[in-house]
Amino acid sequence: MNTRVLTGITTTGTPHLGNYAGAIRPSIQASTQPDVDAFYFMADYHALIKCEDPARISRSRLEIAATWLAAGLDPERVTFYRQSDIPEIPELCWMLCCVTAKGLMNRAHAYKAAVDQNVARNVDEDDGVTMGLFSYPVLMAADILMFNANKVPVGRDQIQHLEMARDIAQRFNHLYGQGKDLFVLPEVQVDDDVATLPGLDGRKMSKSYDNTIPLFEGGSAAMRAAVMRIVTDSRGPGEPKDAEGSHLYTLYRAFASADQAAAFKQALEEGMAWGEAKKQLCDRIDAEIGPMRERYSEYIARPERIEEILQAGAQKARRLAVPFIEQLREAVGLRRHVSVPAVGDEQAAGKSKGKVARFVSFRDADGSFRFRLISGDGTELLLSEAFADPKAAGMAIKALQQPDALQELAQQEGEQLVIRLEGQKVAGIAADAAEQLRAALESMAS
Ligand code: TRP
Repeated sequence: MNTRVLTGITTTGTPHLGNYAGAIRPSIQASTQPDVDAFYFMADYHALIKCEDPARISRSRLEIAATWLAAGLDPERVTFYRQSDIPEIPELCWMLCCVTAKGLMNRAHAYKAAVDQNVARNVDEDDGVTMGLFSYPVLMAADILMFNANKVPVGRDQIQHLEMARDIAQRFNHLYGQGKDLFVLPEVQVDDDVATLPGLDGRKMSKSYDNTIPLFEGGSAAMRAAVMRIVTDSRGPGEPKDAEGSHLYTLYRAFASADQAAAFKQALEEGMAWGEAKKQLCDRIDAEIGPMRERYSEYIARPERIEEILQAGAQKARRLAVPFIEQLREAVGLRRHVSVPAVGDEQAAGKSKGKVARFVSFRDADGSFRFRLISGDGTELLLSEAFADPKAAGMAIKALQQPDALQELAQQEGEQLVIRLEGQKVAGIAADAAEQLRAALESMAS
């Protein structure tokens, strides 16, 4: 069994260099391990708790998605989605709310800090505290338990939230599991090896200290301008510097090999000027970040591509969430009284009378031709590869409409079902979605 690793990123800001080294880079690295199934998502419902500016929320979701993709996240490998595209999460959140003691939430650090501040200001204890803030840990538990995550890599400040998620899961298992566990108990993973970058003033790099170095925004020029503002001591060129004691060196190390770091340290100790050291730091950062920056701009310029990736990610996630929430509804007693098809069931199976599945062709922003197969209820079942020629795309659609097309054209490759026509790849879908696709194609034929 693979380990399920899951983590969320609140979408309230633009990622900086500290976010990259402390979270994005190690998470992407972890996702490439052979025995790991990674679930990374944008916690945009959580963002609503902290931010009431719709434009900022919307911009941040786009920037964060583009950042992860540009930094090398492979959406075929990782389940990469937005929280708000998974309606089963708020549904689970409510079920969990109903078994969570209010007293447990009273003890949450973030809530207590807000209360303490109010007391100090001599205003009502709960001044400015919303139900969103108060129940923040329950929503976070729903994020984690929805996908039965084994490991949750987070910062130290989130450890308490993970303990609460375990408490809530245990209570739910006890109440409704009838002897077997409905939820896996998640484990917190706090990685002390991961670089916590210092900011310009030497304190932890953080938006709240206004000491950040931008990652992609503003390009190399903005990054360089920030590095030039890093605070150093007043030792002049030629004077030996205390490398270990300078945060410039800590930053350099986060982007350098051991040999490069050793050479940099030695040069400082032998008197390299701070100005030169800053220039070398910029060059090191650019060597790693430069190529990503270009990909970032391309993604930002094509939000439709990001949307497509996120929709595919949501579908992948919901293939787990939909049956699981059904099981949970059953467990708590929200059952159907007899097994008659409910409203919507027919469409979901692609068998509705009026609404059969359909192919939709479109032209991509890069000029190529693609098509989708949309089921009767509007979900995307397949997105084709890009074709240079619209006729080739048309032929592929025709071929798919032949009886037994999948049997003839599709082959399982790993967890994918790959459809080829005369050797050329037409599309790849998750193997466990094959049955749905077959049913849809059949419904069109009849
Ligand atoms: N609370 C987390 C943070 O601020 C973000 C988050 C939301 C999260 N849901 C999650 C992290 C689920 C891990 C798992 O960093």
